[in-house]
Amino acid sequence: MKVLGIETSCDETGVALVIDGAVVEQRVATQVEHAEWGGVVPEIASRLHQRALAKMTQDVMQAAGLGHSDLDGIAATHGPGLIGALLVGVSFAKGLAVAHRIPFIGVNHLEAHIFSPHAAGEVLPMPALALLVSGGHTELFRVNGFGRYQLLGATLDDAVGEAFDKVGGLLEIEYPAGAALSRLAASGDPQRFTLPVPRTEQPFQFSFSGLKTAALRLVQSLEGKPPQTWRADLAASFQEAAVTQLIVRLDRALENEWYRSVVLAGGVAANQLLRKRAEQIAARHDIPLFRPPLQLCTDNAEMIAWVGWKRLTDGCTDPLDLEADPNLSLAWDDLSGTDHSRGGIEIDIHSRAVKKKRGATS
Ligand code: KG4
Ligand code: ZN
Repeated sequence: MKVLGIETSCDETGVALVIDGAVVEQRVATQVEHAEWGGVVPEIASRLHQRALAKMTQDVMQAAGLGHSDLDGIAATHGPGLIGALLVGVSFAKGLAVAHRIPFIGVNHLEAHIFSPHAAGEVLPMPALALLVSGGHTELFRVNGFGRYQLLGATLDDAVGEAFDKVGGLLEIEYPAGAALSRLAASGDPQRFTLPVPRTEQPFQFSFSGLKTAALRLVQSLEGKPPQTWRADLAASFQEAAVTQLIVRLDRALENEWYRSVVLAGGVAANQLLRKRAEQIAARHDIPLFRPPLQLCTDNAEMIAWVGWKRLTDGCTDPLDLEADPNLSLAWDDLSGTDHSRGGIEIDIHSRAVKKKRGATS
């Protein structure tokens, strides 16, 4: 089975080819143009995806020595993400699917992050505890199997990557600031400033807005002093508080229930301190930890192509009227208007996709 995967949910354009479950070709283009605006500008993102995507796809197919009609499926991220950016990838994938009479598969970006170790040839033993940490998400899931997710907790306000980016901005680091902030932190003293690790009402909830505000106040109080006397220490102290909050929840979840593996996913999973602390926690619980290689932590098409391939081999495809959904979730949240995603109910999201498809054709 040969599946092409397309990722355009935010500011990375990605194209990858998976054959029989293994990644054989991949390209990624990071949109550096957003740096001067201090964050992703949605319209610029859409235009840049539109400019890059067709050529990148051609490159991937040529490098693999294949024509489009050799493909068994075309997968694209259909949510969550920026609507304009998603529309570029979804429309392009549907166009290829129609032109070459190939099945189309819409991929949930969050599911792809969770299964990103599979794009590196690893297999997550189930049930798995997944910590999904990126610029837009901070969530803990119990993963009972492919398609079967139970949301344990999410952030009440900012995502952890967003906090890294905003505090990085205070330290005059270009967007996206996470990786550079953590490099700066390496030469700082994490004990110099005490920054808050909040208590939340529910054990697996997160909150980063207080930490961000505390960092802002600290920067304001330090202004005027030479930056070399505090900048690295502030970065290290912020990183310490942010990672501690994540690790406390991870540890709690492992105390609370039995899992066969732990997986870190999303851009912030590239953070070395988080990777190290999670290793210590997993070792203490005697459970294997999966930390995808760095290029599979940040947005990429390998994980999209892998999920597309998995769904296709499971006999599941999507109708051509499947919509891009900027708020797509990983839990069943539209039953009787009740938000079950907060209640931690497990639903097989793909059986719902099949039901929808059947409904559309009957
Ligand atoms: O998954 P991703 O590429 O895109 C989203 O779906 O959001 O994650 C990007 C986020 C950004 O907020 C970026 O600052 C953060 O991941 N990030 C990091 C590191 N590398 C990327 N945060 C902390 N430490 C890092 N090493
Ligand atoms: Zn992502």
